[in-house]
Amino acid sequence: MKSPSSLAFLSLVACSRLVSAAFDLSSVKRVTNLPNAPNRFIVEVDSTADIPSKRDSASIHERVYESIRARDISFGVDKEFDAEGLFVGAALTLSNPEDANALETSPGIIAIRPVKTFSRPQPVKVHVVTGPDDSEIPPDVESTHILTGVDKLHAQGITGEGIKIGILDTGIDYTHPALGAGFGPGHKVIGGFDLVGDAYNGTNTPVPDPDPLDQCAGHGTHVAGIIGADPNANPFNISGVAFSSSLSAYRVFGCVGTVTDDVLVDALIMGFKDGQDILTLSLGGADGWTESSSAVVASRIASAGRIVTIAAGNDGASGSWYTSSPGNGIDVISVASLDNTVIPLQTATVQGAEHDPIPYFSLFPIPVTEPLPIFATSNDTTVVDDACNPLPDDTPDLSGFLVVVRRGTCTFVQKLTNIAAKGGNLTFIYDNGGGFAAIDVGDFNATLIQAADGEFLVSQFAAGVPITVTFPQEGGFIQFPDAAGGLISSFTSYGPSNDFFFKPAIAAPGGNILSTLPVPLGLYGIESGTSMATPFMAGSSALLLSVKGKSQEVTSTARTLFETTAQTISSSHTDGDPLQTVTQQGGGLVNVFNALHTTTLVSPGEFILNDTAHFNGRQTFTVKNTGQSEKTYTVRHVPAGTAVTMQPGTIFPAVGPVPLTTAAASISFSSTSFTLAPGASKSVTATFTLPSSDESTFPVYSGFIHVVSGSEDLHVTYVGLGASLKNAQVLDDTDVFFGEKIPAVIDAAGDFQTGPTNYTFDAATGDFPVLLWRQAFGTPIFRVDLVDANINFDPTISSRQVDADTNAHITFPRVRVGGSFARVPIVGSILEIDFLTRNNEDPNDNGFNTVAFDTPTFANGTTIPNGSYRYLIRSLKVTGDPTKEEDFESWLSPIVGVFA
Ligand SMILES: *[C@@H]1O[C@H](CO)[C@@H](O)[C@H](O)[C@H]1NC(C)=O
Ligand SMILES: *[C@@H]1O[C@H](CO)[C@@H](O)[C@H](O)[C@H]1NC(C)=O
Ligand SMILES: *[C@@H]1O[C@H](CO)[C@@H](O)[C@H](O)[C@H]1NC(C)=O
Ligand SMILES: *[C@@H]1O[C@H](CO)[C@@H](O)[C@H](O)[C@H]1NC(C)=O
Ligand SMILES: *[C@@H]1O[C@H](CO)[C@@H](O)[C@H](O)[C@H]1NC(C)=O
Ligand SMILES: *[C@@H]1O[C@H](CO)[C@@H](O)[C@H](O)[C@H]1NC(C)=O
Ligand SMILES: *[C@@H]1O[C@H](CO)[C@@H](O)[C@H](O)[C@H]1NC(C)=O
Ligand SMILES: *[C@@H]1O[C@H](CO)[C@@H](O)[C@H](O)[C@H]1NC(C)=O
Repeated sequence: MKSPSSLAFLSLVACSRLVSAAFDLSSVKRVTNLPNAPNRFIVEVDSTADIPSKRDSASIHERVYESIRARDISFGVDKEFDAEGLFVGAALTLSNPEDANALETSPGIIAIRPVKTFSRPQPVKVHVVTGPDDSEIPPDVESTHILTGVDKLHAQGITGEGIKIGILDTGIDYTHPALGAGFGPGHKVIGGFDLVGDAYNGTNTPVPDPDPLDQCAGHGTHVAGIIGADPNANPFNISGVAFSSSLSAYRVFGCVGTVTDDVLVDALIMGFKDGQDILTLSLGGADGWTESSSAVVASRIASAGRIVTIAAGNDGASGSWYTSSPGNGIDVISVASLDNTVIPLQTATVQGAEHDPIPYFSLFPIPVTEPLPIFATSNDTTVVDDACNPLPDDTPDLSGFLVVVRRGTCTFVQKLTNIAAKGGNLTFIYDNGGGFAAIDVGDFNATLIQAADGEFLVSQFAAGVPITVTFPQEGGFIQFPDAAGGLISSFTSYGPSNDFFFKPAIAAPGGNILSTLPVPLGLYGIESGTSMATPFMAGSSALLLSVKGKSQEVTSTARTLFETTAQTISSSHTDGDPLQTVTQQGGGLVNVFNALHTTTLVSPGEFILNDTAHFNGRQTFTVKNTGQSEKTYTVRHVPAGTAVTMQPGTIFPAVGPVPLTTAAASISFSSTSFTLAPGASKSVTATFTLPSSDESTFPVYSGFIHVVSGSEDLHVTYVGLGASLKNAQVLDDTDVFFGEKIPAVIDAAGDFQTGPTNYTFDAATGDFPVLLWRQAFGTPIFRVDLVDANINFDPTISSRQVDADTNAHITFPRVRVGGSFARVPIVGSILEIDFLTRNNEDPNDNGFNTVAFDTPTFANGTTIPNGSYRYLIRSLKVTGDPTKEEDFESWLSPIVGVFA
């Protein structure tokens, strides 16, 4: 009898973990676990570079390959990218990963990035509906449209006609009756491409074909319905946000598994070249940085005049500083999710006394067809510990009754166990003020009802009135206001990025969304996630373009227009609680009607105040009256809650929901009231003062500057950090996670190395060291060098002296000349990883990093001479200077003997 919202809620509770229980070292696998595809790199080429070739007619790609081969680097070309002005380059697999450094310095190559792996989007909940009578169907399928003004645009006939949207996802089941039941020109799904094939799982070779049909995964079909479901062709009256737009499916996921960045870059470029006006990606993975290949290319496509909408991520439970890529792309629109405002509930009816139907938390009617008499375990409606003790001996057999019990003191399961001991097998628990919401009752048949309904039933029982309760098997379904409805979904990942970009940009409905599923998977279903909010923004963008045109002027200001006309969202329904932090709601909930009809323009939409060391406390915005009449404006500041992003007294980010305080910045404006003639505009300067507040908790301030004239209420959204990012400790040097201090080298026996240890690097016996560490915070550069065992070096942190998946490291330690960094004497470099994300509190989900040093080689492939050494780990602090030793945190391992 648990509703999916209770399951979703519980699963979120179950994942919001505290850093407390130590993780068992024996569970650490002795393999490299980094999220990078082995030996694979995306190189970017300067297409104007003058690279000599044996053939005059050679293409830029051929010239670059020739020059790479000339350096004795052996490689295979996985993909070529050739979008002049956007991205020219290739995805390469090196035969020897150690050649990466030489590759990076080859003529014509301007950037080299590892190929990253992205997980498939995990919907927060899935329910396949069984038919029009399925009680899980939100009663008003347009509730999300009413929330955002889309219903009013539809009423005006604005439905996205003439706009092309490319969907990068699992493909689309275009045979679906609500998605046009066909493929190609003239249909709703006009085109696309399958870049991977059914069997692709992120580690094997893609097998492309022209047909992006998906009848095995389903995610992309749900996304497509949110944009394009045809309201005249489905029994639920689901309508897509932009149901007259034309869709193309770029299939980047197979039936199961992950996708690598090179496939995403290929699909992005393909969509760009196909002339898609909008590209939408309901996918991503925690990253924290804006630098992955797909994030960079997506951002460039956005600045080249297209709109790119990308999910903000479903990692809200992991707290701050854990933003998702490619949603981190600087110019893309990263989308947060808002919970729908209604939840479907069932009702029971009362016979023998006048009373309104009683709502109870269940999606399906309780399958009891006979009217049931009731039994109250206490006649006192104020009892605090009802049924917490075994029921009295004189209690009758309760199996034929609906038992009524009051919430409180002990667990639901305790009460229900006592009731079951007397034969009770169906129970209403009435609320005691704890809140009317889905509850967890294990396997018992019990559900929560509201306090007033319970008090009524008990008073009738105590008065000896012979009432009965019936559970209508049809028609008992109602829409009940969702307690969490209208708020930002708790699963939405928090921004900002580690380089302090404004993420997410905006919110759209993404919780409890009914849409299409592939025909073999049941046709219709309800899903939740930022994956569902993202196509809503793509559809909203299509409505905008269909009215205002597709010019660069419109596309480049779309994000600002949506942000400034959005509706700000509270952090809770409790009066007096602050607005939700901008780091989870962005500019607020999109209002597409306001965005299209506003006669005032405010820009920019975002003020990024950055950290205290790079404080941009003076900002200017412009207000323009685009209406037909003179308007008077007032300017005022409404702060949002300040996110306490680190757990006080620790180096660990707060888990979600991130605690908020009301400490707020103050702003003085150059003008707070002014009048503008039609067509006139005015600049206003805002000077920010950050309140003093505990810097060690890395408080992120945010809020809104409202510009109001009559019923028009626009805003600029700001975000800033009340601390210096450089003070964030990047390496975890605590014993919190493993019960022993890390970093560590793990020896052949799987134990933390405590003293000097020799290794033979014998593959057969697995006698090699494994490096184990955690990033408490993301780092721009993580580096491991081999140093002399007797080095005279003071590391910044010290701890007690931690598959033979070979060649998996990305190893391009740069040669750094000059600066204090280069003065540390090293024997040779082992590993460098740039833009590493922080680790997560969940040990089974990016909890820690391991690298297996299973061959005794330097990064360049040269064998390490036998001898005794130490590993020197260095991790650059955020905003640190890579040439300065003092901007790194460092750790020296115990003595590692290389005796191969
Ligand atoms: C991917 O599929 C290949 C077979 O094509 C299989 O060998 C490999 O184990 C699969 N990988 C994952 C992660 O499922
Ligand atoms: C769909 O819309 C039609 C016409 O407005 C209405 O009669 C019908 O009841 C609606 N169906 C559902 C499932 O809401
Ligand atoms: C409760 O038990 C009675 C007697 O065994 C049975 O008739 C009834 O169906 C049960 N009700 C439920 C909801 O399991
Ligand atoms: C709950 O109800 C179902 C169906 O009425 C029944 O099969 C099941 O045994 C009941 N469970 C308990 C714990 O009473
Ligand atoms: C509650 O009231 C009913 C009806 O008057 C009575 O039969 C029952 O004994 C009372 N229960 C208790 C615990 O007093
Ligand atoms: C914040 O400041 C740092 C250090 O100057 C800079 O690298 C970063 O790009 C800035 N962030 C933004 C969004 O401007
Ligand atoms: C490691 O091997 C070297 C050379 O055989 C030896 O001198 C040294 O004592 C060994 N160290 C340990 C800890 O076994
Ligand atoms: C590889 O690196 C080691 C350590 O820095 C160095 O001694 C060696 O000369 C390098 N080998 C090549 C081929 O560059």
